Amino acid sequence: MQIDKIMAYTRMTAAEAAALIKNGDQIAMSGFTPAGVAKATTKELAKIAVAEHEAGREFKVAIFTGASTGQSTDGDLANAQAIKYRAPYTTNPDFRKHVNLGEIPYNDLHLSHMAQELRYGFYGDVDWAILEVCDIEEVGNDYHVYLTAAGGISPTAARLAKKVILELNSFHNPNAKYIHDVYEPLDPPYRKAIPIEHVGDRIGQSFVSIPKEKVAGVVECNIPDEARAFKDSDPVTDKIGYLTAEFLVEEMHKGRIPKEFLPLQSGVGSTANAILGALGADKHVPDFNIYTEVIQNSVIEMMLNGRVKDASACSLTVSNDCLMQVYDHMDYFKDHLTLRQSEISNSPEIIRRLGVIAINTAIEADIYGNVNSTHISGTKMMNGIGGSGDFIRNAYLSIFTCPSVAKGGVISSIVPFVSHQDSSEHDVNIIVTEQGIADLRGKSPAQRAECIIENCAHPDYKQLLWDYLKIAKMGHTRHNLSAAFAMHDTLARKGDMKLTDFAEYVK
Ligand code: COA
Repeated sequence: MQIDKIMAYTRMTAAEAAALIKNGDQIAMSGFTPAGVAKATTKELAKIAVAEHEAGREFKVAIFTGASTGQSTDGDLANAQAIKYRAPYTTNPDFRKHVNLGEIPYNDLHLSHMAQELRYGFYGDVDWAILEVCDIEEVGNDYHVYLTAAGGISPTAARLAKKVILELNSFHNPNAKYIHDVYEPLDPPYRKAIPIEHVGDRIGQSFVSIPKEKVAGVVECNIPDEARAFKDSDPVTDKIGYLTAEFLVEEMHKGRIPKEFLPLQSGVGSTANAILGALGADKHVPDFNIYTEVIQNSVIEMMLNGRVKDASACSLTVSNDCLMQVYDHMDYFKDHLTLRQSEISNSPEIIRRLGVIAINTAIEADIYGNVNSTHISGTKMMNGIGGSGDFIRNAYLSIFTCPSVAKGGVISSIVPFVSHQDSSEHDVNIIVTEQGIADLRGKSPAQRAECIIENCAHPDYKQLLWDYLKIAKMGHTRHNLSAAFAMHDTLARKGDMKLTDFAEYVK
């Protein structure tokens, strides 16, 4: 622990740090997903908000991060009614509840856009940066601070903020510094090509540099990352993983994926974690590299057993046991694992250059290939688009996966028209459910509809979807606008999409 080193700094408690923050302030934070997010100060800030509200005073702040955070930021601040604005992503159930009650202005945006949009001034001034760090060095008039389990938007947050609070969290091993590549691009018209040509290329520094006079104080703490547990893989996710692996191997045999293979990106959540595990288990898939935004547990296992050679990401969104494994094996990981800022891990330029194969999870897909990754039944926010749009739009191959049904079978994930659209039919190449694979490349809307219903829909819903096509009006993309949401409407009214009767909707 760096007690001696930080004697020169203003040490403060989390409560003292939180007391510096005023109603209306805008705060940019370290981290990406619950990984690497500062946790001590915002927890205290939530208590201040409660006290202020009890005293009849307004207290709300804006929060900008790399992606989601955990309970001590999104959860506690949402419960305290203390968020005046939030971007760009979230996974916290309490936050979700308050957003869906319409209480929080939440802006769900592509994660690669967050840092640059802050720099462009789209959101106004940044009053505070709160960064979680594993080590601090004093170098001339600056502090060099070392990030923990995520790259996020930290250098931008620190540069734009009027003042910075550092949380020196001894839960993280200072040797986390060996996996960071800190790089902040210039803005147009001065931006340069980002010189990453291989997954493991490093182009920046291992630290964020902050002028000493900006640092308001250092909060020492020892708090674990607030990682979510993953559901175990099950026969459905195993089957999706197996089908995806089989498809990629076939593409390689056809010469459409080079024999060296291409780097994989894999989305967030239990399904993505299980699918990547299944890909790794398929011995026909050669050892591969990962260029992604979040590394989940399965990738660390595969790095340790040699299936994944090199990995680049924005965060280690892993269980705390798994994180400790990384810290304990730093001699290996420092040469094979790189954490970057979200605008670099998710950079369209690099994704296109490397030829990334993007595998993301859909909530639902429609018969034409449009995908909803964010909303339940069109209105209720689940998590956000995350980086799926950054990757899907620019990938060499864009794959969406999902189980063909949800909630015990009363919901079909394949619907006539998605109830909310995040990725469009123009960007989606392949859809995989446990039923099979729809290869949409080169197909017209009518061909796509046949392919998706035939290959991906659950048998309980196939006939219903064929029936929809029969009542869909002729045209390039056939729809019956009166009946396009009949399955969603029936779910809302009768609790089961299988009970849909299109005759009730056709005019
Ligand atoms: N209608 C209603 N609910 C549905 C549904 C549908 N069509 N499909 C799934 N759900 C529900 C599930 O039942 C589950 O509910 P529960 O939490 O009450 O059990 C929940 O949505 C999550 O589904 P799950 O099967 O556990 O999936 P997951 O953990 O793999 O997450 C996403 C799936 C889509 C929510 C997640 O991947 C995500 O947030 N994606 C957007 C961001 C992204 O893609 N980032 C990747 C860039 S690297």
